[in-house]
Amino acid sequence: MNNRRRNFDKKRRYTKSNDKDYNENSYKRRNDDRKQSDKDDSRKYSKPLTEEKKDELRKKHYSKKKQLKHAKTNLPTDGMIRLNKYISNSGECSRRVADSMISAGKVKLNGKTITDVGTKVHYKDKVEVNGKQVFFEEKKYILLNKPKDYVTTSDDPEGRKIVLDLVKNACSERIYPVGRLDRATTGLLLLTNDGEMTKRLTHPRYEKKKIYHVFLDKPFLKVDFNKLKSGIELEDGFIQPDEISYVESDKKQVGVEIHSGKKHIVRRMFKHFGYQVVKLDRVYFAGLTKRNLPRGKWRFLTEEEIRMLKLF
Ligand code: URA
Repeated sequence: MNNRRRNFDKKRRYTKSNDKDYNENSYKRRNDDRKQSDKDDSRKYSKPLTEEKKDELRKKHYSKKKQLKHAKTNLPTDGMIRLNKYISNSGECSRRVADSMISAGKVKLNGKTITDVGTKVHYKDKVEVNGKQVFFEEKKYILLNKPKDYVTTSDDPEGRKIVLDLVKNACSERIYPVGRLDRATTGLLLLTNDGEMTKRLTHPRYEKKKIYHVFLDKPFLKVDFNKLKSGIELEDGFIQPDEISYVESDKKQVGVEIHSGKKHIVRRMFKHFGYQVVKLDRVYFAGLTKRNLPRGKWRFLTEEEIRMLKLF
């Protein structure tokens, strides 16, 4: 990633206090900072970095240890959990529904019907719901910085590369992407086996903030910028970015903040005005940023991040 891109990503890192800064006026100030830091960086790296040097820097900033830091199990050390948690973790239903099934006598623990909703079980116990055995599965949350040329479907009949290939050694659970990114789009993609969280993060009612770094085939005219800012009508409805700003002074790069998760939404927004998106990078997703996550790499979410996503 070049220095300008890195600086842009840094600027996009979300905090409540700098959120208001993400507008056109403050862009100028940020651009001055960027120019200064570009100068500083160019002093450090007067020659282009060699592949070895890049690898060295990657290792320094991003070790396997960091990648796996939060992979440890969240189970209590004695392995005991509430029966409703066991059932909901199996993907069968929510904890609330599990409680009503327990009360209704539809749950068996090691062959015996249980009606006490407070019952604790060991994660290796045999649990049956409505006569069918369910299996405890720990929830896993992985953040990937997707490279281009990978599709976000779980398999591809055309034999193209899939994002699951990039995280295949991360865990034994069957995880899947939350929402989608186009094959050519790069950037943040969350993968999990937590169905409830996926539903919440992708449901139109709760759609979460995303920020995209858009590279266009030609400078984005101010007149189109203003029209897009006030919202436009596309074939599937009205869309208005929450924020929009130029990233570079050549005006070919634009930062767009949206909540919509509609298919090809960013590309379609610019196509509406006759621009082609030549490169698209998601730099922010639902409170998560690309910080310390090089392209093609993944990491487990921290417990704090998981809590934050659950609160959304
Ligand atoms: N909008 C798009 O057009 N493509 C993506 O991959 C994501 C958002």
